Amino acid sequence: MCGIVGYIGNNNAVPVLIDGLKRLEYRGYDSAGITVYEESKLKTVKTVGRLAKLEEMLLVQPVAGVIGIGHTRWATHGRPSNRNAHPHNDCNKKFSVVHNGIIENFQELKEWLQEKGHIFNSETDTEVIPHLIEEFYQGDLLAAVKQALAKMEGAFAIVILCEEHKEQMVVARKASPLIIGIGQGENYVASDIPAVLPYTREIIILEDGEMAVVTAGSVTVTDFSGNIVAKKPFHVQWDVEAAEKGGYEDFMLKEIHEQPRAIRDTLTGKIDRQTKKVVLPQVNLSQEFINQLEKIHIVACGTAYHAGLVGKYLIEKLVRIPVEADLASEFRYRDPIVKENSLTIIISQSGETADTLAGLREAKRLGSRVLAITNVVGSSVAREADDLILTLAGPEIAVASTKAYTTQLLSLYLLAIYLGDARGTLAETDRISMIDALTEIDVQVEKVLNTETKIKEFAEDFKNCENIFFIGRGLDYAVSLEGSLKLKEISYIHAEAYAAGELKHGTLALIVEGVPVFALVTQGDLYDKMISNIKEVKAREATVVALAMAGDHETAKSVDYVLHIPKTHPLMTPILSVVPLQLFSYYAAKARGCDVDKPRNLAKSVTVE
Ligand code: M6R
Repeated sequence: MCGIVGYIGNNNAVPVLIDGLKRLEYRGYDSAGITVYEESKLKTVKTVGRLAKLEEMLLVQPVAGVIGIGHTRWATHGRPSNRNAHPHNDCNKKFSVVHNGIIENFQELKEWLQEKGHIFNSETDTEVIPHLIEEFYQGDLLAAVKQALAKMEGAFAIVILCEEHKEQMVVARKASPLIIGIGQGENYVASDIPAVLPYTREIIILEDGEMAVVTAGSVTVTDFSGNIVAKKPFHVQWDVEAAEKGGYEDFMLKEIHEQPRAIRDTLTGKIDRQTKKVVLPQVNLSQEFINQLEKIHIVACGTAYHAGLVGKYLIEKLVRIPVEADLASEFRYRDPIVKENSLTIIISQSGETADTLAGLREAKRLGSRVLAITNVVGSSVAREADDLILTLAGPEIAVASTKAYTTQLLSLYLLAIYLGDARGTLAETDRISMIDALTEIDVQVEKVLNTETKIKEFAEDFKNCENIFFIGRGLDYAVSLEGSLKLKEISYIHAEAYAAGELKHGTLALIVEGVPVFALVTQGDLYDKMISNIKEVKAREATVVALAMAGDHETAKSVDYVLHIPKTHPLMTPILSVVPLQLFSYYAAKARGCDVDKPRNLAKSVTVE
């Protein structure tokens, strides 16, 4: 995601800002910029593209000053461009702001500010912040920031400079990380610890709802109402590489743990809290188009395809339109029948997968409207699609996809609810119960993550097996496919997923004493059928680990081990049930000594056919 760095002290801020931003490069970005206080003015230099380009610009138009802020942007609202790059200013360039996160109510605020005469320069949500501060400013920066904060909804980590207050930076955090590095006669702020590690290892972590005034010699932390919060810096022991991983051993583990945050970010601004309806700002399907829709295609590869299989199930259930899900590498060559009144949903984390992109182009060539679900603004898929749902998982660095999958699922839930509502196939009560379930799913994912130790023990027990089977029915079958892919991809254990009812048509021949079977039992309407399938494998003396719903005490009687996931809406279980499978794969791979972040023979983004 975006990176923030700030410096205040006695040295030139510019090299510190650039160096800090470079240390955050691993998070991914598409534009970069800095502001420094020079000769009583805030001077901003920013550009689309890499930090190297910003450095070239700084050679041509050098700036210097002892206080400054810098930012690398990963586009969310508005494409990557010079104008959309941070820092952002108010009308009179008195304030300069860098921001990570999303201002959920920015449209409403922007209109309000425009009515008051503010002129906006960018398409970003961030730009409302300097304008809000400008609107409230009467000489007291802190008071103006507090008033602005009271208006802002959503997630943010912000750092603010004011031309009239060259002795301080004001920072604030809500649901987006921000740290303060304590130096000797100089202080630092950053979105992540690695940015400041060469300068200091004494770190204050701001919590949600906290803000601070940072000067060269002091840091005063308060809540948004101004009540002092006593904070003690902690000493960072990790090296830079460990710090990039946020203290986790690998990016994959970090990304698994980032899922609650990724889910919250992806949901931000997509649910109207009053009406409990889905709002998809970058989807422009007319009511007429939705009414006339006859067929939906879903095209994707790998994990994204597995998310698509869940999407097929959901859309058919909630919208009652036939859905075909295709592997992109098959779709592009199978001469698919794509009708005029159809919608093709393209799912891709990177937005650059060659087969998926070719599938998108084939669907368009055949006359279909294309809606993309992707994690990368400005990617080829995002640019070429007619409509867009952006997953806000943040950069996914590990080859094995985890947080991208759960946010793709989330996007498909939102889309299915949106279409079901528009077509009149989804009753209001059902919509509300699904929206309620979605709004608490992040907390439930956290609960699943808390069972990590138990999952680790299972994984270590199974580390030497040669084959593992994943079985499930309905939505559980789709998640089994993902569990199986994850395991084979990073642990090199041969894993297969089967629709549990299909075992008896052949695969049961492989189930013999001690063969591990992971059985997903989260679908109430298929519960009895699934228990019968478990009994089939138990009769062949398989070792069965079941993934069941909280409160299900029956399944334990038929299996060797059981893990529970919290109760949720029956259609939402995939978001929860995939998490233990991700952790199982991770710990099995670690126990086997595999390089989980870079599995053999695989690339993060497959841009060749
Ligand atoms: O970037 P994409 O979502 O288009 O990538 C598709 C697949 O290559 C990807 O999901 C792959 O299967 C993952 N590495 C699996 O963890």
